[in-house]
Amino acid sequence: MVGKVVRLALAMLLVAFWSEEGQALTESYEDPNKLKVWLTISARKRFVEVSWSNAPANQGDQLLVTREDALSFQTQLLPKHTPLAAFRNEEGSGQDDGSPSYMPISGFTARPETKSDTSEVEQKYWVANGGATEVVAAIEPRKGLNTQWFTTGLPFDYALSQNVTVQTGCYGFWASYINAQGNILAKTCLRAFPRWMNNLKSKIGEMRLRDLFIPGSHDSGSYRPNFDPLVRESLVTKYALTQDDDIRGQLMHGVRYLDIRVGYYRSSHDRFFIYHGITKQRPLQEVINQVRDFIYETNEIVIFGLKEFPVGFGKGLAVHRLLISYLRDQFQDLIAHPSLTWRASLRDIWARRQNVFLAYDHEAMVEEFPDILFGSVEQRWGNKQTWAQLETYLRNINDFDVSRFSSRPVSDMAELTPETWDVILDKTGGLRKMADNVNWRISQLYRNELGTNANIVSADFIRGTTLVETAIEYNARKIYM
Ligand SMILES: *[C@@H]1O[C@H](CO)[C@@H](O)[C@H](O)[C@H]1NC(C)=O
Repeated sequence: MVGKVVRLALAMLLVAFWSEEGQALTESYEDPNKLKVWLTISARKRFVEVSWSNAPANQGDQLLVTREDALSFQTQLLPKHTPLAAFRNEEGSGQDDGSPSYMPISGFTARPETKSDTSEVEQKYWVANGGATEVVAAIEPRKGLNTQWFTTGLPFDYALSQNVTVQTGCYGFWASYINAQGNILAKTCLRAFPRWMNNLKSKIGEMRLRDLFIPGSHDSGSYRPNFDPLVRESLVTKYALTQDDDIRGQLMHGVRYLDIRVGYYRSSHDRFFIYHGITKQRPLQEVINQVRDFIYETNEIVIFGLKEFPVGFGKGLAVHRLLISYLRDQFQDLIAHPSLTWRASLRDIWARRQNVFLAYDHEAMVEEFPDILFGSVEQRWGNKQTWAQLETYLRNINDFDVSRFSSRPVSDMAELTPETWDVILDKTGGLRKMADNVNWRISQLYRNELGTNANIVSADFIRGTTLVETAIEYNARKIYM
């Protein structure tokens, strides 16, 4: 059946990746039942998080975080009377109550129940690369639990993320799962995915955008450069900002669906701005520049989803026409011509070199500008305030999914939404706290259950999820029939 995509279960697939210099990097998309480790970044405190699944969790197993690639691990002895840090709470596993689960020191081998007193015995601890690389966090998997999600006390500096280029491989942090003998059973690192679509061309080239699992960001333009939530958080930033990376950073790290909410501000130099609700965020020009530069650099395909138009558009259509003409000037030949339709395969899109889909959430405008506008991506937004409600909603829309027969993309909006009074009274603690509450669960839900048929999945603070890696893995396992 044409266009039908099925998942090849339990297959070990090897996909060769070529970097710009022509080096072949071999990426394996293994058996989903194999031990796997992820690194993510929490939203509230921007701590490094480490998670794993299918862990043997044997006696002596450890998850070790380093700031360089660890090729091997060795033990060293810690002198007597060395103070060790203590866990503040028993179980990290994503249930972040706000305090870091673990304060890092230079490596230790066991869960340090030693509080911070001095030890009377010599302690063994792990180092990497013969002692040249220190272990900055060590976590012992809980026995009998093969899946855990843990927030470390290691701060992540978003300046590292801003420095990422298409050439960057791993950067910042590495995590290795080792056994009692120090053998590395699985490892991962923080990394970008600037060309994941092109790298999978041989597998997904014949598919439509609707056939792929595509990471998206909710309210993509609601970020603030060089913002530190631990220093400058206010009621406004708590409920307006939804991402930590700018648009370029989001795209570099794998996002391909942007949720763009434009407001119009007649009297300012930049007339169009990104809004979240009624708060003004970035100039639209900045967002467009970053999308354009990214596409020129990578040849990836981006869905630019315009919606809401919350401020300054009024009832008439004049401002819409102004915006559309501005978009045309800005993106020019990169604009996917609607004659492609949503049924176009990635190969069709690449053949035309029209990599930006302007999906415009206003039917009259789509009819008036049939040469540049696509209809909107259907956003499936549940307006949910708790994880239990959100989980039920996400399962329902995926179980009873009539839109699967259409080629128009749909986006699951996988985030919590505060109610007005919750914002005014700051009852929920802000969007960052809400994202930390659900991002690890969303990651597991799509990884374990909903990934097979997922299309676009959009989240707040996307770096706190494993959605990008999971999407790429599911896409690599798809076969076209
Ligand atoms: C980012 O790159 C600049 C220029 O190469 C460098 O000076 C800076 O230290 C880098 N920032 C981080 C956090 O690595």
